[in-house]
Amino acid sequence: MTTAFTKQTIIPITELEQSAFCQTDGNLRTKTLEEEFSAGVRWQKVPTRYLKLTPEEISEGIAFARNEIGEKAVLLGHHYQRDDVIEYADFTGDSYKLSKMAAAAKDAKWIIFCGVHFMAETADILTSPDQNVLLPNMAAGCSMADMAKPTDLLDCWDELESVLGTTERVIPITYMNSAAAIKAHCGKNGGLVCTSSNADKAFDWALERGDKILFLPDQHLGRNTGIAVGIPADDMAVWNPHLPMGGLSEAEIKRVTVLLWQGHCSVHTRFTVAQIDAARERNRETNIIVHPECTQEVVAAADMFGSTEFILQTVATAPAGSSWGIGTEISMVRRLAANNPDKDIFCLDPVVCPCSTMYRIHPAYLLWVLEGIMSGLAINRIEVEPETRRNALIALERMLEVAG
Ligand code: 13P
Ligand code: SF4
Repeated sequence: MTTAFTKQTIIPITELEQSAFCQTDGNLRTKTLEEEFSAGVRWQKVPTRYLKLTPEEISEGIAFARNEIGEKAVLLGHHYQRDDVIEYADFTGDSYKLSKMAAAAKDAKWIIFCGVHFMAETADILTSPDQNVLLPNMAAGCSMADMAKPTDLLDCWDELESVLGTTERVIPITYMNSAAAIKAHCGKNGGLVCTSSNADKAFDWALERGDKILFLPDQHLGRNTGIAVGIPADDMAVWNPHLPMGGLSEAEIKRVTVLLWQGHCSVHTRFTVAQIDAARERNRETNIIVHPECTQEVVAAADMFGSTEFILQTVATAPAGSSWGIGTEISMVRRLAANNPDKDIFCLDPVVCPCSTMYRIHPAYLLWVLEGIMSGLAINRIEVEPETRRNALIALERMLEVAG
């Protein structure tokens, strides 16, 4: 299956749409779905009655439905969800914490995942087949996850084998932000899944068992983690899935310890060292904390980096009066600022840019799936097919074991 020609570069639509919700006036107030549709991005079609509901009507409907459904449903909310969704969440967290919450929700018939597609797929894999995982809007994907196509990974795997043969063992690690088929490949080939809260442990685990790591799909998390566990930057190389042999020579493939898939997050690559410098110029006491999906230069310039839950806990438990410049998604930063009025909390990026796919979980979609449950309908059920599920589960269970 080795590729002889340069492949066409496909830019995920979700990435092209990322700037659609960016605004300079900073107003992220929830509007009717009809008004939000004017952003021009792809939304999943919903029955027309949901289009004109006001935020107040939606809120009343959700409260009524939740009361009717009771404890049969568990609502999980990722930290990047808007406030008008987070207020209904039973549990909030980063992707690792939410995957554990889903696995622990054994008595719930319905798990409503307010996050993005790969998170709901993971929840489906970690729950039993008689539980229903619902994603309120099927257009809530992740542009980074879209950058690793299963067929490109198969090509890459064949190409690596043709260069390395059986002399060197490559351990594939995929970031949680990837399709179930990518996780399944890792499970089947001696690898595992990681999240931003346990990538260092996954690297250590892999290097105890193999000679090299193939890390997908975020080159930045991969590079930042490699450096954190002591791998020099020049012992890592970027694998471009659009070029034969990843755009690398055989000698390079043999030389490096880590191959980093050429993927990125369009939200986190907006943060720059210049923004950090400007924040420190305004206040020398400001602490800078960023997500490891930021570039290596930004992570190196920051005081701390970690998962969304790490950022939340660090800032929430910081002393009153402290100042925090944060490099992560704006809905989360705004909520942290509102919940910690005794601290100076701000986003490093002056432009207000929510993650456009997380933002697609408008509360009207949540109401739609809840009303579906009341009528016995599983709207937007996420179901991973059995073989993929089996192999992806192996990779996820390895993560849960390694991360503890
Ligand atoms: P966390 O696991 O840190 O929540 O990150 C998920 C994510 O998509 C960040 O962009
Ligand atoms: Fe994907 Fe980036 Fe959005 Fe996270 S912030 S869900 S990595 S696009």
